[in-house]
Amino acid sequence: MLTRRILGLKDLPGRSSIYRMVSSTTIKVTVTNSDKRRVSLDGEEGDNLMEIIKQQTDFPLEACCGGMAKCSTCHVYIDPKQLALVNEVCPCSEFELDVLDRCIDGEANSRLSCQVELKEDMQELDVVIPSTVKDLRFSR
Ligand code: FES
Repeated sequence: MLTRRILGLKDLPGRSSIYRMVSSTTIKVTVTNSDKRRVSLDGEEGDNLMEIIKQQTDFPLEACCGGMAKCSTCHVYIDPKQLALVNEVCPCSEFELDVLDRCIDGEANSRLSCQVELKEDMQELDVVIPSTVKDLRFSR
């Protein structure tokens, strides 16, 4: 984060190749599937949580809308002890809250993983994939 500020890269997208060259902090993420299987993932600052789950696990996270915050098939639960930190460094938008409100299994610690960008402060992030996800595009 400091390197990014020093180099004036604050406004570049998190996954720019320039930023990756100067960033070396690995962010550990543990994902638990509905069958209680746990997988440890390695991410970097700026990585999208949904994308690293899809890339590094075989968990059925559909992400039907491709990260547009429209379908909720990337819904995850954030460890309640980490929720305040995650929401502080990666705030939940009103749009995301609207989508989460329509999840049948939404909880206070729900987030759309496609809307969570990993930050250095999110070390040892613990997330759970709900047993049910529903694609809202087909729910009417
Ligand atoms: S991928 Fe559709 S809401 Fe996240």
